[in-house]
This record gives sequence, structure tokens and C-alpha cells, in this order.
Amino acid sequence: MAFVGSGSATPDQSLSNDQLSLRVDTNDSWIRSRTGICSRRIIGSDESITDLAGRACLKALKMANWDPESVDLILLATSTPDDLFGSAPQVQAKLGASNAVAFDLTAACSGFLFALVTAAQFLQNGSFKRALVVGADQLSRWVNWDDRRSCVLFGDGAGAIALEVSSSKNDGLIGFHLKSDGQRGGCLNLPKIQDNLPLVDGITYQQGGFSTIQMNGQEVYKFAVREVPSILENLLESNKISPESLDWLLLHQANQRILDAVADRFAIPYEKVLSNLSNYGNTSAATIPLMLDEAVQDGRIKPGHLIATSGFGAGLSWGAALMRWQGPA
Ligand code: UT7
Repeated sequence: MAFVGSGSATPDQSLSNDQLSLRVDTNDSWIRSRTGICSRRIIGSDESITDLAGRACLKALKMANWDPESVDLILLATSTPDDLFGSAPQVQAKLGASNAVAFDLTAACSGFLFALVTAAQFLQNGSFKRALVVGADQLSRWVNWDDRRSCVLFGDGAGAIALEVSSSKNDGLIGFHLKSDGQRGGCLNLPKIQDNLPLVDGITYQQGGFSTIQMNGQEVYKFAVREVPSILENLLESNKISPESLDWLLLHQANQRILDAVADRFAIPYEKVLSNLSNYGNTSAATIPLMLDEAVQDGRIKPGHLIATSGFGAGLSWGAALMRWQGPA
């Protein structure tokens, strides 16, 4: 299986730290020093997350030189679909990928990694030949814009990669580990609103609706700096790969301090740690493919490069994968 294309899309509207401080009691210097974020993109009135996911997929299709009808699978990792029944079929329709089965997968900020590994299984077991995996989230819809402890972190975006079976005996997905811990789910969640209403004859029902993002930042921070190095270390050891042989460390873009802490733990130089947090903040399932596409486009990631990636977030969920980028034929 080979990684042969990438694409990304972000909304036009940019919200700087200074602008955000007009809404909530915060300031540019606090946000920069505690998170590394300078601005984030926000979907405005004329766009949707399905649009962004579609644009990212189109670019990945173009890089891979694929006919949309040759795609077998579209997996959309999102926690913020336009339609709770799933938005992936709408992405399929936008692309004209009429032969692809398309469905959503929800695992918050780990969603892209979980979807990537899921799609790879279909290719590795021979069920499908070509897949698009897209991570797209619009957390701006679900942030409490008056909660300075969380709203400064998040933004909207989408990124996609194209995977296909290959004749090479060296699989592009070298290894992976995935984990969940529902016991700690309360650290970061977006729970339903409990609204019981009478239906008829004493029968009640729960009206649909969700609250806003609830986050214990310090607990999530501690979770990330403990679990990400640990899962990466296990993955590297089980695949007999040394940290020095990595070309890139591509972590979920949550906080620059988390990226630096993980790099320090493995003595990986900061030049090998991909980061675009300053421009986009945390775009949840989109961060990894958005960053990957940026580095492919500007030539930092080259064919044959070895990348260690790790996603982590709500659930709690986390995972790591080792991948070798191939690029288009
Ligand atoms: O995909 C995963 C998503 N979630 C995360 O990645 C969250 C991980 N956690 C973090 O990134 C950090 O915990 C935060 C950036 C959220 C917070 O940084 P911190 O260094 O843990 O700050 P803190 O919560 O300990 O707060 C320190 C101080 C407090 O003031 P006092 O009590 O010391 O006077 C806060 O009230 O900073 C204050 N504070 C702020 N001040 C200005 C908290 N948020 C802000 C803010 N602007 N936005």
C-alpha cells in the first residue's frame, strides 16, 4: 500500500489572537507563549465542512492522477459533520466518485489516524484498491467563544490523502498502535444536552442537541505528554526503528509545547518536527493531513521519507503510525 497524493483546504476567514481578545479576556502574548498559536481559520456563512473536505479530496485526487470513478473508498474522519447521519456521501457526490463507498468515522483529534489505519486494512486485505482518507473539522461551531480556556485553541480545516495498493513489498504503513480510554473521557468532550420532553401518555423522549466543548486543559496536556511519547516509543521499538532514522515527526497540532516536549523526549531536532499551529491552531481531525499536505507541497516531505505520526484527543483516544511517503507515480 502506498501514499500517493495529498490535498488540503482551509476557510478564507482568519481570526488573529488580537481579534479574539476583542471577544474574550485573553491576549496575543498569553496565547502565543502557552500554545504557539497566532491565528486560526473560521468557516464563514458561505461554506461548510463538506465543502472543505471535498476541496481537499479533489486536490489529493489531482496529485495522485486518479479518475474520481476509480476510487473505492472515501473515509471522512470528523466529529463535526454537516449531517449527523454522515457527511461522507456528500463528499463522494461532490467528487463524482460514484463507485466509492463513503462513510464517516468519529474519533475526535485521533480521527484521521484511526481512519487512515482503517482504510489501510481494506487495501492490505485486498478488498479495495484506492481510498481517500480525509480529516475535516469545524470546531468553531461547537466552541464556547466566551470560554478563554478553550476557545483560543481551535480552528477549522480539512486535509486528505490518497492511498492505493502497490506491488512493492514495502508497505507505506509500516506499523501502528491505537488506544482508547473511556474512563478519562470527561477531560475533553462535547456531550449531548439532556432535555427530556413529554411525548404522550407519560412517555418521555430526549430532544436532540449538544452542549459546547468541555475541556480540562491541564489534564489533557498531561495525558498528551505522557501517552504520546510512550506509544511512539513502543511503536519504534516494535518496528526496530530508531528516532534518528525518522525524517519527520508529524504530531497532532494541539499545542507547540506538546510538540516540543515529545521531540525532547526522543532528542529529535526541532527542524524535524512539523508545525503549522501558528497559522491554523488545532483543527482536530484535520491537523495531521493539513500539515502533511503543506510539507509535501513545499517540498519538505520527499518521496521515500519516513514519518512518525501521532494523534491524540477526546475519547480519550490516541495512536501512532509509521509511514513512508511515496508521492505520485
Ligand atoms: O486535541 C486536544 C485538544 N486539547 C488540548 O490540546 C489542550 C491541552 N492543554 C493545553 O494546551 C493547555 O493546558 C492550555 C493551553 C489549554 C492552557 O495552558 P496552561 O499553561 O495549562 O494554563 P492554565 O490552564 O494552567 O492557566 C494558567 C493561567 C490561569 O490564570 P491563574 O489562575 O494562574 O491566574 C488561567 O486563568 O492562565 C489563565 N488563562 C488565560 N489567560 C489569558 C487561561 N486561559 C487563558 C487565556 N488568556 N486564553
